[in-house]
Amino acid sequence: MINAVLRTLFIICLGITYVQLREIKTTEPQWDLLIFTQSWPATVCIEWKEHDHTHTCNLPSNKDSWTIHGIWPTKLGTIGPAFCNRTWHFDPEQVRPIEKNLEQLWTNVESGTSTYALWSHEWNKHGTCAAVLEPLNSELKYFSMGLNWSQKFMVHNILQASGIVPSNTNEYSVLDMYNSIKNKLGVNPVIECRKEKSKNYLGEIRICFSKTLDLHDCDGVLNLKAKMYEGKSILTNCDTSQGVLYPHYPSNTYVNLYKLAMWLQWFTI
Ligand SMILES: *[C@@H]1O[C@H](CO)[C@@H](O)[C@H](O)[C@H]1NC(C)=O
Ligand SMILES: *[C@@H]1O[C@H](CO)[C@@H](O)[C@H](O)[C@H]1NC(C)=O
Repeated sequence: MINAVLRTLFIICLGITYVQLREIKTTEPQWDLLIFTQSWPATVCIEWKEHDHTHTCNLPSNKDSWTIHGIWPTKLGTIGPAFCNRTWHFDPEQVRPIEKNLEQLWTNVESGTSTYALWSHEWNKHGTCAAVLEPLNSELKYFSMGLNWSQKFMVHNILQASGIVPSNTNEYSVLDMYNSIKNKLGVNPVIECRKEKSKNYLGEIRICFSKTLDLHDCDGVLNLKAKMYEGKSILTNCDTSQGVLYPHYPSNTYVNLYKLAMWLQWFTI
């Protein structure tokens, strides 16, 4: 009888230890690369308005500026890890010293959502996993690193140097975009498109870093829809049977000028 009780207790203890060990293991995130993702705000805005026509966009004041989406630790061949420390919540106070820069360079385009919605999501989901690296082990360091990289790797300027500039009429080949980034940085990026009304819109450009924070090929990254196209060996989800639109920034000025022109026309008829 006593033996049976002891044996049961022993098994319960083993079970508890096992669960504890597993928890320790899962709280230590394992990943290989950091994906630094920049978004083209005009495309994010088009998509946001497609969801709901009453939506408006909050755009950076520099119309050439791409914005940061996030820095995502990733394990090759899989997605994630994510939400590595559920008790380490985003705290706006920690990024107060760089908040003005974040608003311009890490912009929450989706107007009407909370001011901190994007940063909070990025920190809770990805930042808490990146934080195992000393240079990224605080909110301030994580977000500052994003700002630094966005200034160092300006997608707009890289594409422009290859003659790829925003336009609502020209379409570009995804291969030209890919080569523009690859030739400048010397590593394989990921080109991400958004499909709207059966057209390819340039959405995001991702570049990868090793744990020593050096540029690295993104090969092997399974994040979102990126896949390897046979033969061409480019990392993209864009429909390669058609061109890619890199749309102009929607600007109220243009709309107003257009309205003014229409209005003037009335008087000259
Ligand atoms: C999770 O975050 C809390 C709050 O910052 C911290 O005290 C704790 O050490 C973290 N846990 C791990 C496993 O990093
Ligand atoms: C960002 O760059 C500034 C100036 O170049 C430097 O002082 C700072 O340490 C950098 N921050 C990070 C997180 O690398």
